[in-house]
Amino acid sequence: MLVVGNWKMNLDLAAARQLSSAIAASIGPLDTVDVGMCPPFVALDAVFAVLHGTGIRLGAQNMHEEEGGAYTGEVSASMLRAVGCHYVILGHSERRQYAGETDQTVSKKARKAREHNLVPIVCVGESLPQREAGTHQAVVEKQVMESLSGVDCTHASELVVAYEPVWAIGTGETASPQQVADMHGHIRRLLEHLFGRAVGSGIPILYGGSVKPSNAQELFNQPNVDGGLIGGASLRAEDFLSIVNAARR
Ligand code: PGA
Repeated sequence: MLVVGNWKMNLDLAAARQLSSAIAASIGPLDTVDVGMCPPFVALDAVFAVLHGTGIRLGAQNMHEEEGGAYTGEVSASMLRAVGCHYVILGHSERRQYAGETDQTVSKKARKAREHNLVPIVCVGESLPQREAGTHQAVVEKQVMESLSGVDCTHASELVVAYEPVWAIGTGETASPQQVADMHGHIRRLLEHLFGRAVGSGIPILYGGSVKPSNAQELFNQPNVDGGLIGGASLRAEDFLSIVNAARR
């Protein structure tokens, strides 16, 4: 199981140090669960210093697809590696919505991330109108196939996929266990098709969208749910730790 906190555009440097320290101090054994934390860029270095040696892994929330150069305001894969990142979230729906990211840019970013030995957490998920129209499976299938096109994955630990229905992100509304199980089963079949059964069957598929201490256990019990990508609840040490506990087996 894998639980990753996505802090989004929250917490200044002092607050980032405080939250990561509080979580690290109480995380307990990490033998049955992997944990990641994705602060904003400016806090990566400081949070890495806190996490170093704890077993909790650092991740970024985005990166640029080019190696380097004249891309004002952007951050490269090698820069993320240099500050200790293991993961990078790619194609989050907020970036698809507000920063114009497409499956094509996500695929370029994921390939570049792999070149630099970062583990991409590739996000997919349908909107409410798409769910209501019954096209959610087709929408997510297209996102998975195109976002992962050309991505090299020879071992299941090199890639993570997060299913995050847009209508459940930050809304307090969660997909039902059945909806989650159905979509995760579909994504599992796609991953096995793309990377072969041996690799595809082991790639972690996270659920994201209003995961909280009260619903984490039931969601994590669903077939093909290998953990969660946690937004709001990752900003409170107590809630995040309780979700990590729910993922322990
Ligand atoms: P949420 O966000 O847990 O606040 O719904 C999840 C995400 O966007 O990764």
